[in-house]
This record gives sequence, C-alpha cells and structure tokens, in this order.
Amino acid sequence: MATLSSLQVAGTRTGRPATAAPPPLASNDALVLSGVTRAFGALKAVDEVSLSVAAGQKYAVLGSNGAGKTTLFNTITGDFPPSGGRIHFFGEDITELPPHERIRKGLRRTYQSSLLFRDLSVRDNLFLAVRGVASGRFSFRRAGAGHASARATRDLLERARLTHIADERVANLAHGQQRQLEIGMALAGAPRLILFDEPAAGLSPAERRELVALLRSLPAHMSFVLIEHDLDIALRVVDKVTVMHNGRVLRTGTPQEIETDAQVQSIYMGSKH
Ligand SMILES: Nc1ncnc2c1ncn2[C@@H]1O[C@H](COP(=O)(O)OP(=O)(O)OP(=O)(O)O)[C@@H](O)[C@H]1O
Ligand SMILES: [Mg+2]
Repeated sequence: MATLSSLQVAGTRTGRPATAAPPPLASNDALVLSGVTRAFGALKAVDEVSLSVAAGQKYAVLGSNGAGKTTLFNTITGDFPPSGGRIHFFGEDITELPPHERIRKGLRRTYQSSLLFRDLSVRDNLFLAVRGVASGRFSFRRAGAGHASARATRDLLERARLTHIADERVANLAHGQQRQLEIGMALAGAPRLILFDEPAAGLSPAERRELVALLRSLPAHMSFVLIEHDLDIALRVVDKVTVMHNGRVLRTGTPQEIETDAQVQSIYMGSKH
C-alpha cells in the first residue's frame, strides 16, 4: 500500500540499549525524536537526531543528497527502526512498535518513489487506501454506494483536489497529479501526522503551486513533516525547519532563520546560490 510499508528488510533490527527515562514531553508534542541514530554498518546515516513537532505543526527537513532525510523517516515509521535513541508519538514511546501499529496510531507517510496502482482509477486507488487503513489489509470487495468507505473515498478525492479526474486511470495522469494522489492516499483514515518524502520532486512550476495549495489546505490539527530540497516551497508551507547534514542536525529554526543562516547557506545552499 502507498502509506506505511510493512516491508522489513531481514536483519535491519538492531539491539537498542535501554536508555534513561525519556525527556519530559510538552503536552502538545506530536512527535519527539531523542538522539535517534540509524547505522548501516559503519555509516551513521542518522546520527543522534533530536527534534520535536508540535500537534498541528507543519515542519520541513532539508538537506543535501545523502544527508539522512529518508532514513530519518524510515526510523519514524518503523521501516528501519533506529539503532539508538527514542521516538515518542503523542506522548507514547513507539520506538519498538512495528509499522502497522504506528499506522493505527495515526502516522502516515508518502514515498520518494511512487507506489500507486497504475492500472486502476484515481478513485479505486483512494478506495483501496481507505479499505487498507480500515481493515489493516487491502480488500477488493466493492462497498455499496452509501457505505462509509465510499463516502471516505469521495472526501479524499475532494481533499486531494482530484474529483475532476476521479475515474481517470493513474497511468494517464500527469506526474503532479500522481503525487497529489499519493498525498490523498496518505490522508486516508484521519492521520494525525504525515511524513512527505519530497512530494515536489520533478514537478513543473504549475504543479508546485498546486502542491503548495494542497499542503496549505490540510486541516490545522494535522501535523506534517516534509522533506524538501526547495526552500522556496518549504518557506511557504511550514512553521519550522530542521537542516540535516551528514546524518546530523545542522540547524533548527523558523524558515526565515534558516534562510538567513550563514552556515546553512554555505553548506546546504552553496550549490544553489
Ligand atoms: N538501506 C540502506 N543500506 C545502506 N545504506 C543506506 C541505506 N539507506 C540509506 N543508506 C545510506 O544512508 C545515507 C543517507 O541516505 P538517505 O537516503 O537517508 O539520504 P537522503 O537525505 O534521503 O538523500 P536524498 O536527498 O538523495 O533522498 C546515504 O549515504 C545512503 O547511501
Ligand atoms: Mg531521500
């Protein structure tokens, strides 16, 4: 399914030392990472990352290729559990939970590369996402028109701004529409926090505008973390930014603070500016 993958790579779970009591959580924290580390052999792809996302907060993780952004997402979803550190989701320690348990608690993600059903319609992809979240597995049984799943599917079509192409085959969609659909699928089942992995990659300027409009239209209570290379997009949709470099947190601040930070400019945006 196109939300959280339940695929586990054999041997990726590593022992975690028992740590001291977790840091005190602010009551409105949605997601708190405390010293999260993920090693692949000798490489620390994510190295002692700590950050917190408040409930309803829109957050961006920036960083150059290989900085560890996607690996950080994988530790949060449980696809690649951390080798060290703790992860709290709405006050609960989820560090050890399997991915499907995290989905049940309201965590979703999209992937850097598409996982859509290309031969199905937009509506059927969303329907499957609704059914998958509802039952914990996919079901091809069609519900009646009045069924809650059909209503939820119509609601997702609206939210993802795709109602006008509901019956189009996914293979026929423009790239930007496919990315919108991935976001729509991640919205199934009333998530509390969504991780978006580079939804703007490969989009045209017009498609980027549509994506920004979609991200800005998400409910105020819903948090998201957006991996984004383009600071111009991040600036327009998030309240807070963490810049990663070589697996570590380089800076965390408001988009304006990040944009004007000299070290961020020299390391991260050096090639762009
Ligand atoms: N499954 C894996 N096995 C071994 N090394 C990995 C694995 N996944 C990622 N890495 C390595 O971890 C580092 C961080 O990779 P990651 O994909 O998290 O970076 P990223 O910030 O998402 O980069 P990009 O902007 O290119 O998507 C890289 O050096 C990468 O080669
Ligand atoms: Mg990545």
